[in-house]
Amino acid sequence: MWDYTDKVLEFFYNPKNQGVLEDKGETGVKVAVGEVGSIACGDALRLHIKVDEDTNKILDARFQTFGCTSAIASSEALVELVKGKTLDEALNISNKDIAEYLGGLPQEKMHCSVMGQEALEAAISNYRGIPLAAHDDDDEGAIVCTCFAITEPKIRRIIEENKLTTAEEVTNFIKAGGGCGTCLATIDDIIIDIQRNSTYYTTSNKGNIDGKLSDKPLTPVQKIALIQKVLDEEIRPILIADGGDVELYDVDGDRVRVILQGACGSCSSSFATLKHAIEAKLQEHISHNLVVEAVNN
Ligand code: FES
Repeated sequence: MWDYTDKVLEFFYNPKNQGVLEDKGETGVKVAVGEVGSIACGDALRLHIKVDEDTNKILDARFQTFGCTSAIASSEALVELVKGKTLDEALNISNKDIAEYLGGLPQEKMHCSVMGQEALEAAISNYRGIPLAAHDDDDEGAIVCTCFAITEPKIRRIIEENKLTTAEEVTNFIKAGGGCGTCLATIDDIIIDIQRNSTYYTTSNKGNIDGKLSDKPLTPVQKIALIQKVLDEEIRPILIADGGDVELYDVDGDRVRVILQGACGSCSSSFATLKHAIEAKLQEHISHNLVVEAVNN
């Protein structure tokens, strides 16, 4: 049984905005529809918006949703949020706004809020008669999750927008990985790649100790990404300047195994390099518990 907020249950049992809006040919008013999902995949949402063509304000909206409690409640919340807003204001509504309006959604149901945001964007794009502008890369890249036909650009966007840190969270938000599961390793790789290059993850992690990111323990994926990042940014430049280098070989719990290369691998003070230049730096940035060992190349 999911732990739903009172608002979610209220919107599910008594949705006031379910239905369709028909274009009756009123002067200065236009109706547009945006559709996302598919009934075959379990959830589908069709959003109707009625727009004042002079002011670009959304005068009214309705939804038709095939889905669970969260999908219905997210659709209702979406309609409440968009009414009275201009199209540009509405485009600023994020899936997080929808979830917050409901007082929160179970993590496993966050994909319902994402579906709402995407239906809104689709409806506005249809109104304007232009292709989806904000996420037109989503359909362009390689498909990572064949079960749900979800591309790498879309997975990257959702991870970055929602600061996701595990493949499980990605599944909760967009279902990728929730079928056969063969794409989960690729999703992990994408998360690592984003964490390596993201300012958010860099600043959030830096200075935290004992394997903690804010109040949450680092996941194994986060820990590996952070170790690699500290190696690349704080340690390797110094070693390379001295004619050496280091490569991350393996991380097993708090045991970090590295390969010393170049001058570092052959010099008499390689043990000191290991302990003072590498281990001390990793302990300073990530966890006092880390122990660094060298393996042979
Ligand atoms: S390929 Fe992603 S769940 Fe099957």
